[in-house]
Amino acid sequence: MQLLFSLVTAILAPVVLAAPARDISLRHEPFHKRENLCNLSAPPALCQPDPTVSVEETALRAYKFYRAFVVDGDPRTMFSLIDSSYIQHHPGYQSGPRVIWPLFCNGNKLGNEQGTAWCFDASTNMSYARYSTTDRWRWVDGCVHEHWDQGESIPTAKCYKLNTTTTVS
Ligand SMILES: *[C@@H]1O[C@H](CO)[C@@H](O)[C@H](O)[C@H]1NC(C)=O
Ligand SMILES: *[C@@H]1O[C@H](CO)[C@@H](O)[C@H](O)[C@H]1NC(C)=O
Ligand SMILES: *[C@@H]1O[C@H](CO)[C@@H](O)[C@H](O)[C@H]1NC(C)=O
Repeated sequence: MQLLFSLVTAILAPVVLAAPARDISLRHEPFHKRENLCNLSAPPALCQPDPTVSVEETALRAYKFYRAFVVDGDPRTMFSLIDSSYIQHHPGYQSGPRVIWPLFCNGNKLGNEQGTAWCFDASTNMSYARYSTTDRWRWVDGCVHEHWDQGESIPTAKCYKLNTTTTVS
């Protein structure tokens, strides 16, 4: 009997441990699956600027943008948060989302949440993502509008604290 009990425990324990955690925090919530959209010559949809988008919503979008860009490899969501201007400060690249589409259309992941970082600074409307490099974007009317990636670093203070019980879709 004892042996049987041990056997059942041994078989069931990994199953129980592997059950998905009911984690409602934003940081581990899966968004969208990785997609390869390189059959499209341009992003399927861009961000439509909307001056009524709140600071809170912009911070949430900045987090979704980081997730899509760095962690999830989700070009559809990533470009749905970029406006049609996308003013580019990376030397050798012209402005506009279509110019960078070929770099991101295949849904490459750049790192996981543990090894990377993000920040939204509401006092400047800048968001940041750190992976092998650090990028900075300026948000205007709820959309990514301008980009820098040289000599950037994530602010040590002033990063927006998201409401981690909010549902992200
Ligand atoms: C491109 O690929 C996506 C994902 O596989 C698919 O949903 C879409 O229909 C394709 N579009 C074209 C124009 O082939
Ligand atoms: C940041 O954006 C908000 C709208 O979300 C705007 O009210 C504010 O003036 C902007 N701040 C700066 C420094 O551009
Ligand atoms: C966080 O979001 C939840 C669910 O939307 C809401 O009930 C709660 O009031 C929010 N908390 C803050 C501090 O905004």
